[in-house]
Amino acid sequence: MQITQAKFIISNTDHRKCPSPDRPEYAFIGRSNVGKSSLINMLCGRKKLAKTSVSPGKTQLINHFLINNEWYLVDLPGYGYAKISKKERERWRKMIDGYLFNRQNLMYTFILIDLRHPPQAIDTGIINNFGMNRLPLALVFTKYDKLKKTEAEANLDRYKAHLLETWEKLPPLFVTSSKTGMGRAEILRFIEENNPVFYREHP
Ligand code: GTP
Ligand code: MG
Repeated sequence: MQITQAKFIISNTDHRKCPSPDRPEYAFIGRSNVGKSSLINMLCGRKKLAKTSVSPGKTQLINHFLINNEWYLVDLPGYGYAKISKKERERWRKMIDGYLFNRQNLMYTFILIDLRHPPQAIDTGIINNFGMNRLPLALVFTKYDKLKKTEAEANLDRYKAHLLETWEKLPPLFVTSSKTGMGRAEILRFIEENNPVFYREHP
């Protein structure tokens, strides 16, 4: 898939105010600093489409981008800030759950994971929640270029083995680098293959 057009549509805190669900949609979620904005920009071939937030944890918004006038890309706020209050965390959870459980055109949520770190409970908790609630997810391992190849591959194997302790089968999985563009073609192909499914289910 060639990206010929990528434009920001709207930010909001309420799934009911999101654009009308008339096109297939793919959301991106992950811990702060995992490389979410960088990945979105890399996928869209734009340097500054998704802004890096100045103050992490403060961006509490669901951000819609329209790609090729054909599908929505959604940048969800990051999780896992140490400094956030319990009340704010609860607000985040409610907003995200409201979106994930009600958004009719949501085809997949890509959960981003920093390949440099061993499996973290906060990430595997989210992954398992998706599984338990039968919400379609795909995994994206980020920052491949930051590791030596052997290290990166070992971390990936360790993560897969960890997931297979609880999952029967692994979800769709991508390995990326926003620096080198690794994984871009694979993710865009995946989206391209899934878009027609939306139109089949929503004639
Ligand atoms: P927040 O918006 O603060 O939650 O962070 P984010 O998840 O959007 O991460 P962002 O894209 O801002 O990236 C965080 C840092 O990691 C930046 O310094 C990026 O340049 C760097 N980074 C992201 N992806 C990659 C990657 O694939 N390779 C390398 N080398 N650096 C990356
Ligand atoms: Mg960001």
